[in-house]
Amino acid sequence: MDVVRRQYETYPYPERDPADESTRLIEGSPSHPVEIDHFLFGGSRDWSRPFRALVAGGGTGDGLIMLAQKLADIGCPAEIVYLDMSQASREVAEARAAARGLGSIRFLTGDLLTAPDHGPFDYIDCCGVLHHLPDPDAGFRALADALAPEGGVGLMVYAPLGRTGVYPLQSAFGALFEGDAPAEKVALAKVALDRLPPTNWLGRNPFVGDHKQSDAGLYDLLLHGRDRAYRVNELTDALDRAGLGLVSLVEPARYDPLRYLPDTPQMRERVARLSGPQAAAVAENLAGNIKTHVAYATRAGREGQAMARPQRAGAVPRLAGVAAQALAAHVAKTGELRLTLDGLEFRQPIPKEAARLIAGIDGRRSLRAIAEGAGIDWLAFASAWMPVHRALAGFNLLHYSEGARR
Ligand SMILES: C[S@@+](CC[C@H](N)C(=O)[O-])C[C@H]1O[C@@H](n2cnc3c(N)ncnc32)[C@H](O)[C@@H]1O
Repeated sequence: MDVVRRQYETYPYPERDPADESTRLIEGSPSHPVEIDHFLFGGSRDWSRPFRALVAGGGTGDGLIMLAQKLADIGCPAEIVYLDMSQASREVAEARAAARGLGSIRFLTGDLLTAPDHGPFDYIDCCGVLHHLPDPDAGFRALADALAPEGGVGLMVYAPLGRTGVYPLQSAFGALFEGDAPAEKVALAKVALDRLPPTNWLGRNPFVGDHKQSDAGLYDLLLHGRDRAYRVNELTDALDRAGLGLVSLVEPARYDPLRYLPDTPQMRERVARLSGPQAAAVAENLAGNIKTHVAYATRAGREGQAMARPQRAGAVPRLAGVAAQALAAHVAKTGELRLTLDGLEFRQPIPKEAARLIAGIDGRRSLRAIAEGAGIDWLAFASAWMPVHRALAGFNLLHYSEGARR
């Protein structure tokens, strides 16, 4: 049996208990319908229309269950195809769907390369999978070939710098434990981890911790049989070769080199000379803490038209993971947004006067309605809104969707 398939039959990842579905829904990025609408359908998709999605390498079901539940919540007539080569992972995902009574999912066991046989799809989720394929380019191409002409992809691949320490240990353990059964590898790795010298890079990277969560996490992080990480420019090259175009990286602000440089005319001028992928690569190299790249893409040529625009008066803004009134109060007091990601604090100014615009976000009102509520004309609103948009969308805290909701 293929080494990767054997791993996921033994240790479905991430480890999930279907009984937990009665107490919580795991949400993340990509693949929340609000994000899908925002990044791929201009924020104005009609969700009463049928929607076909593929969750490629769906694993134990995190992205699948979120997508299916959120689409059910808004009454979207969806068909979601789950495809994974691991039967053991599928059983967990199926039990989670059954626990929630989600009937929109068709479960398939098979290779991601067969995706085009089941298409076309309006949306494809592929998280944490492409970097484990023997030929990742063939995987990118399969996703592109399975996509409807106006559809889009949400994907996640590993990034090397934030995972500093992972690959030397994968290499060392790979050599040491070759031929051992999976459970034996886990036991031996635990013994070795207990005695690592203080100079080992994993011990010096406090932002990677999957190996401490579960045996499946330890296996996935440090004992993986096939795992390559992508620099962000390698990801955009791979998309290019597959005929896909990058719409946006998620948390795009993290890919702006000026976040990590002194704000001087010399630096701004030099950053301005870079192409988009070059600038993102510089930011990744300067920051050093990006562990994964999450990206939305369409067929090449459509990437410029896909994303929602803050200039559209009918756009309905929605906040992610933060309450409008609390954020408005914070901005009114401090004039900034402050957040810490993977050990790095970002401080983003937002004019205090914009607080009342933020307070107007309720998931129903359009930008025009928020402007009217604040008693300002559309042109004045549009310029007051831009700093809010840049700050919040830059950190994936704001999206536009008329019909999907959080
Ligand atoms: C790290 S898990 C990620 C699971 C899920 N996408 C998530 O984000 O939680 C990788 C999954 O990809 C599946 N996989 C790897 N290679 C595959 C292939 N060639 N075809 C189908 N599934 C594959 C594995 O079986 C495993 O369930």
